[in-house]
Amino acid sequence: MKIVMITGANSGIGFETAWALARRDYRIIMVCRNREKAEEAREKIIRQSGNQKIEILIGDLSSREEVLDIASQYCVKYKKLDILINNAGIIPGEREETVDGIEKALAVNHLAPFLLTNKLLNPLLNAEEARVITVSSEAHKAGKFEPDNLQLNIGYNSLKAYANSKLFNIMFANELAQRFNHTPVTSYSLHPGTVRTNIHSGGSGYSLFSFLLKLGRPFMRSPKRGAKTSVYLVTEPGIETLNGNYFVDEKVEDPLEIAFDREKCRQLWEISETLTIKWDKTL
Ligand SMILES: NC(=O)c1ccc[n+]([C@@H]2O[C@H](COP(=O)([O-])OP(=O)(O)OC[C@H]3O[C@@H](n4cnc5c(N)ncnc54)[C@H](OP(=O)(O)O)[C@@H]3O)[C@@H](O)[C@H]2O)c1
Repeated sequence: MKIVMITGANSGIGFETAWALARRDYRIIMVCRNREKAEEAREKIIRQSGNQKIEILIGDLSSREEVLDIASQYCVKYKKLDILINNAGIIPGEREETVDGIEKALAVNHLAPFLLTNKLLNPLLNAEEARVITVSSEAHKAGKFEPDNLQLNIGYNSLKAYANSKLFNIMFANELAQRFNHTPVTSYSLHPGTVRTNIHSGGSGYSLFSFLLKLGRPFMRSPKRGAKTSVYLVTEPGIETLNGNYFVDEKVEDPLEIAFDREKCRQLWEISETLTIKWDKTL
């Protein structure tokens, strides 16, 4: 039986992805930060899918220590992981730093998937065919890779922080594909569409960006529809030839050119490694 780990599986696109895959009889590992919300979502998935193999791992992805803990808890229990869906994400409000002193969107949206994936490489490499799927956004097109201002100490705004982190998602997915070419691990990124979920509720503070998104809610697609490309990337046979690509509505699309710039992707990987695995925050 195939095992899928989904971050942010208690709500929105992550919940619908978990539900759709539970119906297809995958074993689901839901990574969530809130036990109560996670249990409620788990019960709903079990009730509606009939699949009992739904587990919860609790951890806050804004904390390096908790990301490490999620990975080590998984590795103690399981030897292989077939699919990792880096789905959890936030639209930040005012500039905020995590417990580790890192700008929040960079930490949750990019560094957490980077670290979690790296710490799960052994079980991923043990699978016959493993896929790492990273949920990005068309918002990446407003993003920039500025190695000297990755944490937006200069010129912060919410849209910039979100767009940059979503650009880094695609760069990371592409670099992962390059680095693990000729192994069982392949990697993909995607845009789910503009989807009616909690991410637009601006819970983490007011911003003009989240305000405009709230106004657009009636025109957005449903979370079920928003989960389709993630589910496609899990279930579609033979997509390995498209390793490293960016998908929109179940099709390969061209992201911003820089997202596939080999040198810049390599540079982002090395900086991310310094900020997480090597744990050197002097950058
Ligand atoms: N909705 C859209 O229009 C849209 C468009 C493009 C891309 N996306 C991407 O889609 C992904 C899913 O977002 P969504 O729209 O489904 O939003 P959502 O309903 O707000 O779901 C986000 C999930 O991430 C979790 N999460 C947030 N911060 C976390 C943290 N520090 N630690 C652990 N979990 C955390 C949330 O947990 P809580 O419930 O506890 O907050 C929730 O389960 C994101 O990566 C987003 O960038 C969304």
